[in-house]
Amino acid sequence: MTTPALELQHVAKVFRKDRDIVRAVDDVTLVVEKGEFITFLGPSGCGKTTTLRMIAGFELPTEGRILIGGRDMTNIPANKRGIGFVFQNYALFPHMSVFHNVAYGLKSRGEDPGRIREKVGNALELVGLAQAVHRYPNQLSGGEQQRVALARVLALEPSLLLMDEPLSNLDAKLRLHMRTEIRRLQKRLGITCIYVTHDQAEALTMADRIMVMQKGKVEQIGTPQEIYNHPRTLFVADFIGQANAIRLRTSGYADGKAWAKVPGGWQLAARTSGGTILEKGTEAALVIRPERIRLEADAQAAGTLAATVAAATFVGSHVEYELDLGEGNTLKATVPYDPNARLHQEGARVGVRIDQESALFIPIEAKQG
Ligand SMILES: Nc1ncnc2c1ncn2[C@@H]1O[C@H](COP(=O)(O)OP(=O)(O)OP(=O)(O)O)[C@@H](O)[C@H]1O
Ligand SMILES: [Mg+2]
Repeated sequence: MTTPALELQHVAKVFRKDRDIVRAVDDVTLVVEKGEFITFLGPSGCGKTTTLRMIAGFELPTEGRILIGGRDMTNIPANKRGIGFVFQNYALFPHMSVFHNVAYGLKSRGEDPGRIREKVGNALELVGLAQAVHRYPNQLSGGEQQRVALARVLALEPSLLLMDEPLSNLDAKLRLHMRTEIRRLQKRLGITCIYVTHDQAEALTMADRIMVMQKGKVEQIGTPQEIYNHPRTLFVADFIGQANAIRLRTSGYADGKAWAKVPGGWQLAARTSGGTILEKGTEAALVIRPERIRLEADAQAAGTLAATVAAATFVGSHVEYELDLGEGNTLKATVPYDPNARLHQEGARVGVRIDQESALFIPIEAKQG
């Protein structure tokens, strides 16, 4: 076992606002291996930035410990931690050339001019901007400015790189491009990276592991596939991708699967979140991903559930259906578009086929904030 690059041990941060006490971060424990790319994902106000600022040393934890490379850094000032930080507003110095922007940190560290030139050159090379070394920020596109900000941090050769929504000021196309750029660079340099976002697509595409947060607490930590296929809570299932959640009571459990009657009278057996044993009669949500549903023209087809098409929306590569199961229950289905097949029209009765292997029972009382 090598020493983890970063460890958060039961870290908490309490802010006092007037009379209010806000537990912005509540008992966060995380172990990050060297070279890992971790994203913190969660809705606005869930404590992502506060957690990152504590790692950087801009904020002291109220409780818990922070270890970097095995050393307790909880009370060590930010400038002694060897950490690089890229903010959402990465403001370059407008009156300085690209060279001087990137050289800034190295100069204030008092490094030798020859070494500085070499390091700046290398960093700009890495982000593909060696040719822009004499330009000024206002002569660069938004994406290029972002890359200079990245070069500025990389030049300092941080052991740990923290990024707080660094792409949120860029347009959609550039964001996609920069996602891949950052990831490629991070892999090439083997830098350990923590990346904050509230964009689930960004988290899913970039991360080795995702830490999903809600109200200051960790909801789940796992690889993108684990988080997507095995959400521990309804919050995670709903926050990552789309999810149908049918509330019901389970009618039995055996061999790792629970079963229940779904609206329409059909019996469905499925995995349980985290493999938990669910007693008969447990209140649970049956979570079904819209893309794991297929429709058949015959509403009576064996193994399907009869439903009425409430809406059908053609979106190019696929069709999004809203299905009415009766008793106030609806399902969303995302079906690949087949130009040779007819769309199911609004009002049509259809057979709904659910991929039972991908369905999941999540008990309602489990860890809901
Ligand atoms: N300096 C502060 N004083 C008081 N409360 C604060 C302070 N900083 C943050 N908070 C509160 O702590 C909670 C978490 O804030 P934080 O900035 O960490 O959220 P976030 O997950 O980064 O959200 P966003 O996605 O909007 O950036 C919020 O309720 C916020 O109002
Ligand atoms: Mg934030």
